[in-house]
Amino acid sequence: MWMNGRDVVVINQPLLPHRFELLRLKNHRETAHAIKTMIIRGAGTIGATAAYGMAQAYLEDVDLDRAYRTLVETRPTAADLKHALDRVRARATTAKEAVAEAEAIADEYVDRAKEIARLGLPLFPSGSRVLTHCNAGWLALVDWGSAPAPIYLAHRKGRKVFVWVDETRPRNQGANLTSWEFLQEGVPHKIIADNAGGFYMRRGEVDLCIVGADRIAANGDVANKIGTYQKAVLARENGIPFYVAAPSSTIDMKCRSGDDIPIEERDEDEVHYISGQTNGKKSGRVLVSPRGASAGNPAFDVTPAKYITGIITERGIVKPGELRKQFRK
Ligand code: MRU
Repeated sequence: MWMNGRDVVVINQPLLPHRFELLRLKNHRETAHAIKTMIIRGAGTIGATAAYGMAQAYLEDVDLDRAYRTLVETRPTAADLKHALDRVRARATTAKEAVAEAEAIADEYVDRAKEIARLGLPLFPSGSRVLTHCNAGWLALVDWGSAPAPIYLAHRKGRKVFVWVDETRPRNQGANLTSWEFLQEGVPHKIIADNAGGFYMRRGEVDLCIVGADRIAANGDVANKIGTYQKAVLARENGIPFYVAAPSSTIDMKCRSGDDIPIEERDEDEVHYISGQTNGKKSGRVLVSPRGASAGNPAFDVTPAKYITGIITERGIVKPGELRKQFRK
């Protein structure tokens, strides 16, 4: 994403993988709406886009406290959202400074992701078979991503790495977005139903799991897309290492444990309907549950630190229990 005059330009993610379109967000309210409705999503991209939204508020010359609240309330779980907004508020007094700070935040994400790729690379020797959940790639963390970043790098270096991509119901970020990114990168992969991960793990066809994060608590508990917890428990049961990759801005030392992390509950229609393309190439939504049925839709879950082998940030790979020591403010 980037700024063009007063507009924030983003990739319209719900149209993927069938259509690639950019969308212009004309003011901070439109930007907040795009974050809330998941036109853009993924922790780092949420942070950078929100920073641009805050810069728009400066340019619009509106009440900055109100604009901050509008933006910060969009997605409660992603720590990067508040982190980025606080940075713009703390460092910018003019609109020009706010735009520059937002640009710096977006650029830093790219640098941090490249470092995550470099540091994570040794975990992916040729022949690795990896499982990932949700989308933490190009679209989710400004250009490079977190969990897939070392995989992209390993592939670019000619290593043979294969990825099992969880479809990630209810919104299918794995099937729609991660697979699309891997196709562009040429990384061999297969989309699997969320329920199939345990099957492949038990058959010895998964060497390592890696996921992104939306918020990491001081004790190493990790909030990430709903379903991550199940995969971590299954990985432990099958003796498979389970890694989390995220920029350090995702660590929230104010949350002592995962119990302090707010979990976003989204509209139940995300469970009732699936979006996609028909054979006639028309885009649309299909109802998959009985009319009148109700559904629960927690967007994230918390994986306790005990299931996590290591957390990869741009500062190195640490055991969850060592986070406090390394990231003490
Ligand atoms: O609800 P989403 O699609 O924003 O959730 C995305 C995830 O859970 C990602 O794994 C996480 O944000 C890491 S992205 C670098």
